[in-house]
Amino acid sequence: MSAQSIQSILELRHTLADVRRAGRSIGLAPTMGALHSGHGRLIELARQHSDCVVVSIFVNPIQFNQRQDYDRYPRPLAEDLEFCSARGVDIVFAPSIEEMYPSPQLAFVDVTRVTEHLCGKFRPGHFRGVTTVVLKLFNIVQPDRAYFGEKDAQQLAAIRRMTVDFDLPVEIVEVPTVREDDGLALSSRNRHLSPLERQIAPALYRALQEAARLIASGLTDAQQVKAKAVATLHPFPQLQVEYFEIVNPVDMQPVERIDGPVRVAAAAWLGTTRLIDNILAGAFT
Ligand code: PAF
Repeated sequence: MSAQSIQSILELRHTLADVRRAGRSIGLAPTMGALHSGHGRLIELARQHSDCVVVSIFVNPIQFNQRQDYDRYPRPLAEDLEFCSARGVDIVFAPSIEEMYPSPQLAFVDVTRVTEHLCGKFRPGHFRGVTTVVLKLFNIVQPDRAYFGEKDAQQLAAIRRMTVDFDLPVEIVEVPTVREDDGLALSSRNRHLSPLERQIAPALYRALQEAARLIASGLTDAQQVKAKAVATLHPFPQLQVEYFEIVNPVDMQPVERIDGPVRVAAAAWLGTTRLIDNILAGAFT
């Protein structure tokens, strides 16, 4: 069956009020479209857990800190609708900018500390834009559960913290990263990679795996782990590392000594495409 496509907040509220009245649970997968198997996994889990699955598709202007990145973000809406229908999504909410931001947004959600380092350091205002639109989506959809990919670990940590600090009645579900056979994490931005860049791109994940291997072998000095892992990228000068950090997986603060679970996270530029990825490492007992 085709997913029902809704653009208006009011219509969505009415439709979902009926769903709730019928005692059915709601699962939300917030996306910016250009859907791939990573989103497919969010939808699959939402489908397993919830009676009504809502996918939002909205390229959120306030989370882009570069106009060019926003302009060239892919928007294949017809394909996305087919993608959702084929996976049993009940409702696709695809509002216009005017619908989401009828007047300039003056109220924002700022999750401090968690967003200080990693992408937060290099994309000023990005996470404020993300948490603000996610709070709006939570208020509009009022889902029982919402699904986010582990690939955007800092985003997930910020959303978790927002949910706790604002007592939002939503269960946040973390969905493991989906990868190509060669390890490259799926991302809507991968379609911008040239064939040569596409060949080089998985080196980033291999560097993260090397860091995880060194940590598992007992190396506890974060600087040493980072230096050795980043050295594996030296044969690929096209890959310009923006950051390669080892952080506490909950508050996303850099650690010096690794004595428990950590997240190794990296961002790198390949030409005009920015790749991010991360891996969980360390002791899990
Ligand atoms: O991860 C994304 O696609 C976006 O940041 C999100 C969560 C849909 C908010 O716009």
